[in-house]
Amino acid sequence: MMTDRTAELNEIAEQVRVCTRCILYKTATHAVPGEGPANAEIMMIGEGPGFHEDQQGRPFVGASGKFLDELLAHINLKRSDIFITNVVKHRPPNNRDPYPEEIEACRPWLDQQIALIQPKVIVTISRFAMARWFPNEKISAVHGKAKRFGNFMVVPMFHPAAALHNQNLKPVLIEDFKKLPKYIQDAKNASDASAEAPKKKDPPAEQLKMF
Ligand code: URA
Repeated sequence: MMTDRTAELNEIAEQVRVCTRCILYKTATHAVPGEGPANAEIMMIGEGPGFHEDQQGRPFVGASGKFLDELLAHINLKRSDIFITNVVKHRPPNNRDPYPEEIEACRPWLDQQIALIQPKVIVTISRFAMARWFPNEKISAVHGKAKRFGNFMVVPMFHPAAALHNQNLKPVLIEDFKKLPKYIQDAKNASDASAEAPKKKDPPAEQLKMF
């Protein structure tokens, strides 16, 4: 049976498919809302659909997607274990960078996906996704390092396509992926600890009167 969260995620996808909030829909073939289970512990956020993704309406189905599957296999995960999406849901023409106003227009979709899925770890695999949580950082300095933001951790990583162009980055990405199981466990421990922490008692009535 479909859970409520899966149904809500599907509803977001339906709305993304008819989205006209920026101009990208005009030149795209298909929107690419993203895919994966509603209870995914890991969410990966890329830049935007490329040629093949635009053709098929699915994220990371081209060469970098294949490499991503290999990276996941190193940590015994499959694509179907993670939720994968992009900062912009329609392909920018000729794979140009998305413009700030396009990222901003698309942001509510990503916000809703994050709020519904409540991942333990968000892996940013594009500089535009990274910029949201690490606006002044360089990927070369922070890749593979986790930083907590409220209920989830964010781990910036190199884009798989970058490693296909620069073979030196391949082992770096593999090592960064190998850190993910520990980060997920850390995130789980942190949320268990906060669930168990004794709730602050209400101040006694006398004290309340003072304010
Ligand atoms: N690169 C991305 O950033 N996203 C995709 O969906 C495919 C390639």
